[in-house]
Amino acid sequence: MAAKIEKWRDQISLDYPPLDDEHKAFLEVINKAVKDYYHRNLDNMPALFDACYDYVRNHFSHEEDVMERINCPDIMAHIQAHQQFIKNISEFRQAYEAAETRGKKLDLAQEVVGFLSVWFIGHLLSRDKLIKPYLVRLRNLPPRMDY
Ligand SMILES: [Fe+2]
Ligand SMILES: [Fe+2]
Repeated sequence: MAAKIEKWRDQISLDYPPLDDEHKAFLEVINKAVKDYYHRNLDNMPALFDACYDYVRNHFSHEEDVMERINCPDIMAHIQAHQQFIKNISEFRQAYEAAETRGKKLDLAQEVVGFLSVWFIGHLLSRDKLIKPYLVRLRNLPPRMDY
């Protein structure tokens, strides 16, 4: 998959800053990783994997909680897509750590950043976007202080 810099655009906005801000921050992480790859810089690859796990821990759980609270349809399919991402990242990390040469690590870095840049926009357009029409329901729920 070809890694490329993606820009934030209205099409991927949910008009809901608590989730949009997390998406924007992760898009920056991905774009930085793409630039590192363009420079054949592998120094930040461990931090990239850590950032993916942070995104999983913080963002996926936040988003899944919001979906449950507003009773979004197709929650299970969305959660499965998140779980598949976790599996993909774990496999990439294992393969990256096991790679013995710089050449192999560069090949894997290309795969990882290509996967991330394609997955991110694809997931937002195919899954996260489906939440948008239901976010209006949040207005009818009591506020929560934990986000
Ligand atoms: Fe999602
Ligand atoms: Fe999301």
